[in-house]
Parts: sequence; C-alpha cells; structure tokens
Amino acid sequence: MMVYTTSFGLATVLLCIFGWANGLPSPNLDAAHSELLGLRDSVGAAANDYHWVASWTSMPQLVESSNMPPSPFSSGGVFKDATLRQTLYLSLPADRIRLQISNTFGGSDLPITAATIALPTSGKAGVSGIDTTTLKPITFKNGSEGITIPRGQVAYTDPIDFSVPGQANIAVSLYFKTGQSSSSITGHPGSRTTSWMVSGNKASEASITGGKDTKHWYFLPAVEAWKPTSSNSSAFTILGDSITDGRGSTDDANNRWPDLLLARMQKNGINHIGVNNQAAGGNAVLSGGLGPTLLSRYKRDALQQQGVKYVMIFEGVNDIGGGGTDSESQNGIGNRLIDAYKQIAKECKSAGIKVIGGTITPFGGNGQSYSNPAREQTRNKVNQWILNSSGGQLDAVVDFGKIIGDPSVKSQLAKQFDGGDHLHPNVAGYQAMADGFPLDFFS
Ligand SMILES: *[C@@H]1O[C@H](CO)[C@@H](O)[C@H](O)[C@H]1NC(C)=O
Ligand SMILES: *[C@@H]1O[C@H](CO)[C@@H](O)[C@H](O)[C@H]1NC(C)=O
Ligand SMILES: *[C@@H]1O[C@H](CO)[C@@H](O)[C@H](O)[C@H]1NC(C)=O
Repeated sequence: MMVYTTSFGLATVLLCIFGWANGLPSPNLDAAHSELLGLRDSVGAAANDYHWVASWTSMPQLVESSNMPPSPFSSGGVFKDATLRQTLYLSLPADRIRLQISNTFGGSDLPITAATIALPTSGKAGVSGIDTTTLKPITFKNGSEGITIPRGQVAYTDPIDFSVPGQANIAVSLYFKTGQSSSSITGHPGSRTTSWMVSGNKASEASITGGKDTKHWYFLPAVEAWKPTSSNSSAFTILGDSITDGRGSTDDANNRWPDLLLARMQKNGINHIGVNNQAAGGNAVLSGGLGPTLLSRYKRDALQQQGVKYVMIFEGVNDIGGGGTDSESQNGIGNRLIDAYKQIAKECKSAGIKVIGGTITPFGGNGQSYSNPAREQTRNKVNQWILNSSGGQLDAVVDFGKIIGDPSVKSQLAKQFDGGDHLHPNVAGYQAMADGFPLDFFS
C-alpha cells in the first residue's frame, strides 16, 4: 500500500492509493498468478516485465456547486440510486487497463455498488449508448462488485482485460445505490464531453435514456495501461490551465491541443507514450484560481503518475491576468512564477523526468479582462526566462506564444487562432499548437 501525502494550501489531504492492500499482491504480479491471468507471452516473460502507464487523466478537484450533477441527481445523496455513464479518451493501445476512482475531495465515504466498462456506440465520445458485445463488469479488491472509498482516498479497480487501440473512447458506468451523502464531491468540471445519468441500476444497459446529461466528469482521475517493459512505454503529463483543458475545442470531439498532439504522435509512429492532460480551467500556479494550485498539485499530477517520463509546464496566464496591474504586484508574480517553474523542473529532473516548457500565449484585446500593458510586460519577462532555459533548467521549450500569436501585434492572438475572447484559441489554434510541438522531445 502506497500512501501519498499531498498538501492543498493549508489542508493536508491524504491520498491513499489502495486496492492491493490487505495482503493482495502488488501490481507486479508473481509468475504463477500472471500465468493464471494470461500474462505470459510466448517467450515466457513474467508479469514483472510489465508495468502500469498512465493513459488518460483528468485533474481531480472539489466540484463547485455550479458544476454539480443536474437535479435530481444532486439531492438527498449525490447520484442516489442512479447510474452515471462517462466516456474517456485513452491514449495508449492496451489489452489490460485499470482505473482510479477518486474520493479525494469528498465530504463523506463514496460507496460504489456496481461498475461496468464497454466501448461506446461507434467508438464515439459523449454518447449514452454502448456496444454491449464489449461489456464487462469492473471489480474491486480482487473480485468485489462494489467498493466504499473512504473520504479523502483514491481506489484502484482490479485490472480489467479489455482491449483498446490507441486513441480509443471507453464508456465507464458507475451505479450508486445510496449515493454520496455529502455534497462535497470530486470531479473535473471541464470535460468538454457529455456524461449521462439515469435513475436505477442501468450500468449494463445498451443505452441510458430518460435521465439527464451534463458536460462534466465525476470521480475518475486516471486510467492506466498494463504495458510490457520491453515496449518502452511511458507517460507524458501536461500541467496546464483552460487552454490545455480545451476551452474553445468542440464538445465530444476530443480536439483539445493535447488530443491533436496525440493524433500527430501516433501518426508518426509514437504509439508508446501516453498523453495525459492534467489541466483545469481557471487554474493558477501560485495562489487563488480554480482547483488546487499547480504548486500544491504537481507532485500528485506529474511526479506520482504511473510511468511518467515526460512533463510539460504550460501555465501562468491566470496568475498574471488575475494579479494587480501595479508594477510591484506584477514584478512579484513574474518572479514567483519563474521560481515555481524552476522548482517543478528541478524535481522532475531529479526524478529522471524530461521537462518541456511552453511560453504563455497572448491575451491582449478589447473585452478581455486580463488585457493590460503591465501584465503583457510580465508575460514577456516570464517567456524570456522560459525561452532562455531551453537546454538548461528546462530540457526543451515550445514557443506557443509565437506559434499562435499575431506577428505584428505581439500582445494578441493571431486572428485566425482567436477563439473570440482573445485568450482561448479556437480549434485551428489548437491544431497549430499540436503541429508546433517538437516531437524530438520524445527521443
Ligand atoms: C483472487 O480471486 C481469485 C478468484 O476468486 C482467487 O483464485 C485468488 O486466489 C485471489 N487472489 C488473492 C490474492 O486473494
Ligand atoms: C526499447 O529501448 C531499448 C533501449 O533503448 C531498445 O533497444 C529497444 O529497441 C526499444 N524497444 C522498442 C519496442 O522500441
Ligand atoms: C539566460 O541564461 C543565462 C545562462 O543561464 C543567464 O546567464 C542569463 O541571465 C539568462 N537571461 C535571462 C534573460 O534570463
């Protein structure tokens, strides 16, 4: 049993990864057990020649009241006697996966009564239907149908023999008999993907109809793939804000910039690196913002992810844009952002992880509340440090600011990449970011 202690501001949250506790084997199954589970390959490699690699993530946070499940699924027990079906977009091909289920921010235990996995209808994101020929139960603690996850903890499912190609959507259905009694729950508001909910246990039904839908995810922070060590599989984790979370991308289309980068990587034969989005709308590096700050979450979201070998830091716009416009405030924010990048990069490097930085993209323009000359100065100062640190404190840098910025008005996004609010790119901008990412970072 591994116990991680992560601090979020003043509160210390015990993040307990279990599911293999109580004398169950560690994820490195012994040879006999692995044979039972079909894990031997033709040359007799044992299961300890496999390892878990993060294939999909969504940054877990306390769900704000405006992002709670729609009525009646939030009252008298969240998801009381209800089924929640969510689609997730896995990056790595795999024949065996496992999920994390999170009660990190829950105000009470999280009792899950039953769970299933299937491929969604036509492989699509955000649909309520599943291909029932692929349906499988998800179990916990070596075969239990359900689990009660204590407050503040994260549970693993049992490993699931479930085959997926790269870039595949899966549908995960959770049924809750009693629901979560507290209205403090864990989720990821910016799913850009439709989740479905309905009364009763419909986890194995072909379609979930007659309920409600919402564009948020709940309880699911990670899916991991069981990969042979010989495949050199590893995880790439992107620490970011709403630009990486995909604000301005198309709902149910998986065209956030990391999704488009994943497509480009796999088209170029890089099929062994999981692309993991650890970004959240409104997130700040230093203080304030929505969700835990980057400084309080990077250990959890990057260093502690399974199989992580590559990390990107691409965040800071909400610190600069949310700060006062006097020079003292802006000076302090700029310096503290640089210190934060240094700290994160240093810890990643000493853990053997390669780090790439992304320059902060422009946010000038009429009607954009962050737009301000003093903030633009801070952006330039921070970007100078990022660009100057390539091959030094950072292993590599991608100049997103230049890629989607207006070459003649440097404080603004190029018109063809502006999603409309002068801060978030449109899909063309996200494509340009993916196309501009240096794939040799992974070699
Ligand atoms: C897990 O469950 C299987 C099937 O019930 C059983 O054969 C096996 O011994 C169990 N493993 C452990 C470690 O309890
Ligand atoms: C894995 O890495 C090793 C050492 O760099 C290399 O020899 C091997 O060919 C790689 N395997 C794959 C499947 O890429
Ligand atoms: C760029 O890096 C060099 C070498 O680390 C350093 O001496 C210089 O001060 C840096 N310049 C800026 C603008 O950060």
